[in-house]
Amino acid sequence: MDDLKSKYLGLISGASDEATLEDLRVQALGKKGEISAQMRELGRMSPEERQTAGPALNALKDEINSALIAKKTALGDAALDERLRSEWLDVTLPGRTRRQGTIHPISQVTEEVSAIFADMGFSVAEGPQVESDWYNFDALNIPGHHPARAEMDTFYMARAAGDDRPPAVLRTHTSPVQIRSMEAQGAPIRVICPGRVYRADYDQTHTPMFHQIEGLAIDKAISMANLKWVLEEFVKSYFEVDTVDIRFRASHFPFTEPSAEVDIRCSWEGGTLKVGEGDDWLEILGSGMVHPKVLQAARIDPTQWQGFAFGMGIDRIAMLKYGIPDLRAFFDSDLRWLRHYGFAALDVPTLHAGLSR
Ligand code: DAH
Repeated sequence: MDDLKSKYLGLISGASDEATLEDLRVQALGKKGEISAQMRELGRMSPEERQTAGPALNALKDEINSALIAKKTALGDAALDERLRSEWLDVTLPGRTRRQGTIHPISQVTEEVSAIFADMGFSVAEGPQVESDWYNFDALNIPGHHPARAEMDTFYMARAAGDDRPPAVLRTHTSPVQIRSMEAQGAPIRVICPGRVYRADYDQTHTPMFHQIEGLAIDKAISMANLKWVLEEFVKSYFEVDTVDIRFRASHFPFTEPSAEVDIRCSWEGGTLKVGEGDDWLEILGSGMVHPKVLQAARIDPTQWQGFAFGMGIDRIAMLKYGIPDLRAFFDSDLRWLRHYGFAALDVPTLHAGLSR
């Protein structure tokens, strides 16, 4: 018994972690442990022998148990001391000033544009970013063989093996939301559709994801003249100037007939852009009268209804208004850039309070 005692007390005091202590407990006191084996021997002893050996064995068992518990506590204390030594905090350091987040210029401009068109009776509609080729192309009078499909640098989604439907696409423009809105609401209708669009392109003025805003107005007697007035009002409100010079340039889009691109007069003196003066022209959007086939695709009778549509790059007009030279910076998530170009969170753009202040 003395051998067992000095053996286990020695091992316990030398243990360096809890796992070793647990092993020792099992070796000594577990079902098949050495002390337990001795306990079983008691049955074979005479009553006299048992009277001294029994209490002695029990005392040994208690002593080993206490030694295990004491060592376990000591190991825990040592670990805590070590953490207190290595993990510390200098509470005398000055506090950090609280930094407020900012509204991204794209969000700001989307709000500004929405406020302007809301004032003219347009409501906001949205559509999916993963789109079928029917909504992104066919319904917009861009059939399978049309060169506009190749020009768009479309991202195609993968289909599962054996799924032979035409691939879905990441929408290349917001125009499919025209179709979805007409299907859902019928005519007459006035909507704008802001959102993300995707094309495989990357340089100072192109990123694979960017933003557009689509406009659509369908009624009985809407003409090119209404389109022109709406866009002039928009450009003046957006650039927060009393006069702007805009020009309509004949163009071609499969979904409008006739089609026009719209430029605004500007100057680039000293590398900074000024809208409304100078000898340069800057293209800001595409537009036209909605093609009868597009109305038909959206189940609207082209003998009864007509109207205009336009599509504009949000990032582009944000760069123009706020003097941001590189489109890619919009999507770099650089905090210094965001603090410089971001907007205060509670300054919601409204026409009466001023759009950008
Ligand atoms: N969807 C065209 C594009 O992404 C922009 C556009 C042009 C939209 C003319 C229109 C429009 O609604 O009438 O380049």
